[in-house]
This record gives sequence, structure tokens and C-alpha cells, in this order.
Amino acid sequence: MEMNWNCGSRHKHERQTPVRFRRFSLIQRNPCTLGVAALTLLTLANASAQDSTIRAIQNIFDPLSAPAEILYRISLLVLATCAIIFLIVAGLLTYAIIRYRRKGGADDSEEPPQVYGSAAIELAWTVPPILIVVVLVLVTARTIGEIQKPKLPTDAEQVRIIGHRFWWEVRYPKYDVVTANEIHVPLSDRSKRIATEFVLESADVIHGFWVPQLNGKTMLVPNHTNTMWVEPYKTGIYLGNCTVLCGAQHANMLIRVIVDTPERYQQWLNEQKATPSNDQAVEEGQRQFIANSCGACHDIGGTNAKGVFGPDLTHFASRQTLGSGVAANNEENLRSWLQDPQELKPGCLMPNMKLGDKQVQSILAYLRTLK
Ligand code: CUA
Repeated sequence: MEMNWNCGSRHKHERQTPVRFRRFSLIQRNPCTLGVAALTLLTLANASAQDSTIRAIQNIFDPLSAPAEILYRISLLVLATCAIIFLIVAGLLTYAIIRYRRKGGADDSEEPPQVYGSAAIELAWTVPPILIVVVLVLVTARTIGEIQKPKLPTDAEQVRIIGHRFWWEVRYPKYDVVTANEIHVPLSDRSKRIATEFVLESADVIHGFWVPQLNGKTMLVPNHTNTMWVEPYKTGIYLGNCTVLCGAQHANMLIRVIVDTPERYQQWLNEQKATPSNDQAVEEGQRQFIANSCGACHDIGGTNAKGVFGPDLTHFASRQTLGSGVAANNEENLRSWLQDPQELKPGCLMPNMKLGDKQVQSILAYLRTLK
């Protein structure tokens, strides 16, 4: 957005001010300065607001993160090489088909010239293919090195992501923060790198982690740890999927990576570290949550709910979606989820708890306070 910082109207007396004082006098006398200051404050405030742009591109051709860019570059090289080979082969084939097609009549009895042991032809179809393969092998090896063994800054953030049927457990060991399905990472800068390493594990079966605009696919394998990293260049909400068929709700095991400015990211971490305050108004909901053994599967910081089978709900209300991206996190969907999770996500591992309307209402009110 273009902004007119001078409000278009200079004041007459300013013109007469000696040049060396002009800067000073502009600040002192220009009534627009207040407006400029207010705008600056607004801009600063905006910097800490979250960018809600949805980045949903599900292919590799619009990379917005360092490793995705590296993969994109090698893909272009391989695709271009293959396209040139295809054009040459298909071109020669088409030429031969047309030029030497059966013309009928006299040439039916003639055999084409038979060429044996031509060194030139033998070299032509062995040396260039070998060179092409060698070049691609070398470039690929270098790319694998860059992606698998990156030289990350020593202060790189680390996020542990554990795949479950059918949701993602997300842990920030350095900050003692646990959340689910929505992964917040800081924005990087080409001049001052801020990288985030993902440590990928699985609690049950093999899952696949893929956010195409951030990096390639990586598997989450039981009893094994894989790592990958992201270094996003734009803020926003990046969408991704589980890429390995892991059961009935594999298709609804969605990923949201929320890229924030470093300031907003810190603010989010601080919010997540805090224990949600015990709201007296929703005490009944908290009691019902524990009494109906929701706490056997879910953890809510500062309460007796300490379960580990389902997503941590300490700051549930701060999330955008529920059921690992299956629906927006609003009152209507949450009510449906509490009445019967199998309605929104058939086959998910949370059973219908057969709660009464009153119980649903009080637990819903309680969960909505967990900001
Ligand atoms: Cu997890 Cu598919």
C-alpha cells in the first residue's frame, strides 16, 4: 500500500526554514507527525497480528521455503533434461516414420543399407546418456546432502511431531509447550536465517508428513526418528496432508503450519506456556470433563486431566480447527464433536461418549475458555 507520509500539504513556514533545521522542524511543527506516529504504531501492532493467508498449493511448483526451493530447482533441471531427451527421440522417430515410410512400388524389394560396427554411432548413443546420468547423479547427491544434512543455524528452533491415528502431536521441548495439529514456526529471512527443525516420530503406524510449499515428504516411522527442516519466507497458514494410508481417517489427518513473524511466534509461545486460568463460570464443565473420563485421553494443564492418547487440550480454544483440520473450531462443530465425534470423523479413535445435552453444554463452555 502506498502511503502519503506528508499528508500532501506542507506548511508555508517550513519552506523558509534553513535546510539543516528542516528535519527537526518537520518533527516539531508538522501536525501530520501525529498521524505518522499513529500509523507507525498501527504498523507495529499489525506486525504482531497473525497473517491468515491460506497457502494451500499442493504441488512443488510454488516453493516458499529454503528446502522446497532446492527441491524445486532440481525438479526443473530433471524435467528440462527429460523434456529435451523426449523431444530429440520423438523428433527422430517422427522424422524416420515419415521420411522412410512405405512408398509402394519399386522400393518394396530393396533392403535399407545395413551399418555394422560404426564407432561414431556407437559412441553417440553411449557417451551422451552416460554423461547425462553422471550429471544428474552428482546434482542429486548434492541436493540430498543439502536437504538431509543441512547446516542449520545453531539456534534453530526444534519441534517434535508425533503422528497418531489420526492427528499430530506437536511438542516444543525447549519451551515445554505441547499442542496438536497446528504447528507454529517463525518466519525466516534470506539475510538472517531462522530455521526450524522437525523431529518426526510415530506412535502407531507409518504416517507421512508433507507440506509441499515448505519441504518434501518425510515418513514418520514407529521406533525410528526422522528429521526435516523448514525455513519459510512468507507468513501465513500452510496446508499439508498425511501422505501414507494409515487408516479410515487418513484423508482427514490434515496439517497446518502457521508461519508467524518472530515477534508473533514468541508471543504465541508465551501464550501456550501459560496455564489457562480457572474460570469459575465453567467449573461445572471442568468437573464434567474429569467425571466423564475425558481426562483419561486428554491433558489439560493445571487440572487432573493427564491423558496422553488424544490431543493435549490445554489451549484448545486457541486453535483454528478441530479433529486435525476436519472442521473449523467453532461452537457448532464442537457441539457436534462432543455429541458424537464419529459424525464429523467416522473411524476416529474417540468414541461417542454418550453425553447428555447438559453435559455437552457445560463441557463445551469449558473448552471454549481454554484460550
Ligand atoms: Cu496418517 Cu495417513
